[in-house]
Amino acid sequence: MLPWFENGKFPLYLAPMARFTDIVFRQMCKEQGADVMVTEFVQADALNRDDPKLWETVDFTEEQRPMGVQIFGSNPESMGRAARLLTDRLRPDFIDINFGCPADRVICMDAGSSMLRNPKKLGQVTSAVVNAVPETPVTVKIRTGWDDDTIVAKEVGHIVEGEGAQALAIHGRTKLQGYSGEANWPIIAEVAEELTIPVIGNGNIRSAEDVLRIREQTQCAGLMIGRAALGYPWIFREIKHTLEHGVVPPPPTIPERWENIIDYTRRLMARPFREQKHGDLRWMRPKFIALTKSMTGSRKIRGALGTVHQIEDLERIAKEHIEQYHCS
Ligand SMILES: Cc1cc2nc3c(=O)[nH]c(=O)nc-3n(C[C@H](O)[C@H](O)[C@H](O)COP(=O)(O)O)c2cc1C
Repeated sequence: MLPWFENGKFPLYLAPMARFTDIVFRQMCKEQGADVMVTEFVQADALNRDDPKLWETVDFTEEQRPMGVQIFGSNPESMGRAARLLTDRLRPDFIDINFGCPADRVICMDAGSSMLRNPKKLGQVTSAVVNAVPETPVTVKIRTGWDDDTIVAKEVGHIVEGEGAQALAIHGRTKLQGYSGEANWPIIAEVAEELTIPVIGNGNIRSAEDVLRIREQTQCAGLMIGRAALGYPWIFREIKHTLEHGVVPPPPTIPERWENIIDYTRRLMARPFREQKHGDLRWMRPKFIALTKSMTGSRKIRGALGTVHQIEDLERIAKEHIEQYHCS
C-alpha cells in the first residue's frame, strides 16, 4: 500500500496540468495543503533523447514529496527506459502513466487516451514500466473510455492492477468529452468498489462540499483536483479545514490572494525557465489569468493581465483591483 493511503488517509492530489502545474505552482498548492503531486506529462521518447526542456518540467523539490513524474508514450520498451532514467536521476516517489490525454498530437502517437482503445497494449506498457523500476511504485491515470459507447474504466482498471500498478486515477470523462460535460462519478464509484488498489477520483471537484459528498458516496481512496486549483489554489486549505473541523473556513481576502500571486510570480522569475527571456513576464500571462479567474471583477482585469511585461505591471493591476473591490 502506498504510504499516503495508509490508515484511511484520504489524500488530495493536485492534478497534473501541462503549462500550469510548474514547480512553483506545485509549491504553492503544497503550502495550501495538497498532499500528493504529479508533474505534467512528458513524452518517454523525448526523455530518452535527453531533451533538457523536459528535465526542467519534471524537476521537483524535496518538500513536494510524495511526488510522481508522469510519462506518456505507446512503446513499452521506450516507456520502461524513460521510467528507469527518471528513477535513477530523480528518485520520484512514483511513476505515473498517462492513458488519458485527448490532445491530437498525443493521439497521433497512439498514446494518452488512444491507449483506451487498445487495452492489450495498455497492459503491455504498464507491465514494461512496472518491470523497469521494481523499486518505484507505478500508478496509472485514465479517462472512463474513448466515448460513451466504449466505457472501459473497469476493464482497464483490472488490467493495470494485474500488471502491478499500485493506484489508479480516473478522470470521469471520455476522450470525446474533452474537458466539458459532467464527470461520470457512478463509473468511478463502481471501479473503486471493484479494485483492490486505491482509486483516485477526478473530474469537476470544485469545493469542500464536493469532497465531503464524494467521500461519503464512493469508495475512492483519494481525490484529484484540477482546474479548480488553477483558479483557486487555496481550495486545498479550504478542503483540509472542512474535513478536520466540519465547517468551510472564510476564503482568503483579495489582498491575500494578490500577495500569493505576486509571491508566486517572484518565485517563478527566480528560476531559470527558458521561457524567461530578459525577465519579460509575457509567458506567464495565461497563469495570471487562470489565477484571478475566480476573483470578483476578474473580467475587467483580464485585458490588462494580457499586457503584463514586468512585475511592476502586475503590482499596479493588483493595487487597482484591491482598491476597487476590497472592502476592509
Ligand atoms: C491545461 C490542462 C493541462 C492538463 N495536462 C494534463 C497532463 O499533463 N497530464 C494529465 O494526466 N492530465 C492533464 N490534464 C487533465 C487534468 O489532470 C484533469 O484530469 C482534468 O482537468 C479533470 O479534472 P478537473 O475537472 O478537476 O479539472 C490537463 C488539464 C488541463 C485543463
